Amino acid sequence: MAVVISMINLKGGVGKTTCAVNLAATLSRLQQRVLLLDVDAQASASGLLLTDDTYRNLRKAGRTLPFVLRDFWESKDYAPSSAVFQKDFVKNPKTGVPLLPALQLIAGDSRMRKLDEPISKRRLTLPRLMNRIGNGFDYVICDLPPALGPVSLAFLLASNYYLVPVIPDKLSVMGLTDLVPSIHKYVIQHDSVEVYPQLLGVFMNRVASGNKTADQPLYMEEVKRIFSSGQFTKYGIPPEEGARIPLREMISDTVDIPYSASDRLPVCVRSDNNSKIADDFELLAKSVLDRILEKSQ
Ligand SMILES: Nc1ncnc2c1ncn2[C@@H]1O[C@H](COP(=O)(O)OP(=O)(O)OP(=O)(O)O)[C@@H](O)[C@H]1O
Ligand SMILES: [Mg+2]
Repeated sequence: MAVVISMINLKGGVGKTTCAVNLAATLSRLQQRVLLLDVDAQASASGLLLTDDTYRNLRKAGRTLPFVLRDFWESKDYAPSSAVFQKDFVKNPKTGVPLLPALQLIAGDSRMRKLDEPISKRRLTLPRLMNRIGNGFDYVICDLPPALGPVSLAFLLASNYYLVPVIPDKLSVMGLTDLVPSIHKYVIQHDSVEVYPQLLGVFMNRVASGNKTADQPLYMEEVKRIFSSGQFTKYGIPPEEGARIPLREMISDTVDIPYSASDRLPVCVRSDNNSKIADDFELLAKSVLDRILEKSQ
């Protein structure tokens, strides 16, 4: 069964989508079969990967996530249509040769916004949907919107793990104290499911190099302090577990990210020679794989 990981932070613009797309792409380069689910109504992950024409056609044809949900709720023996799984959309720009055969995507859609009510009523069905669409994949990576609305709650409930990017910024780090209790209150205490999402790790995105770095180690120290303080013990993260939550692996702040967005190429395939940012995502992906292996033993 696929391992489901949701990329979440209640703050906007910290790099959830950038990291979900690049983590998914990098995992697929590491021989994992990966499905990226674009859960956010902003459909940013789809915009980073698909051409405007492709996306417009998918949307028009109803081959996006809100339609997958509707079909699932309407059919007793739901089996996802192969038409909703986008394949081979990452191509060599010169030759057109597909570069990431192990990566697939279910595209997002602004019409997810209309699903708040039906999804709140049916959130306990999401683990079953995830089983159906995740069949044949090793990992499902969900890019969630920047809020704990009904859609995020439902997808968290269907996740094995959640992964949290933060940026070196006071408010971003302060927001962490709120995230774990909120997820616990709304997802874990609220509903009864077989598996509850566990916090897999918190990692720093947009880490600058050069002379802008002076205060950055302080933010990581603060993240470590927050998780080791014992304040999350009642949410199932005692200090000894909390000490392992901040990941050592960090993602650089670099123009390669907006360039890779313009090229619609994840960083792991954009440059022929290994780039620093591709290495950052490879280390993050390997750390994620190691942690999951450890937790499953
Ligand atoms: N490591 C990075 N280096 C440079 N720019 C970055 C990096 N990570 C993210 N960005 C830029 O920051 C902006 C926000 O990133 P992104 O859309 O991934 O954040 P988000 O958390 O998904 O936002 P939202 O909350 O709206 O969903 C984008 O313009 C993106 O290109
Ligand atoms: Mg996003």
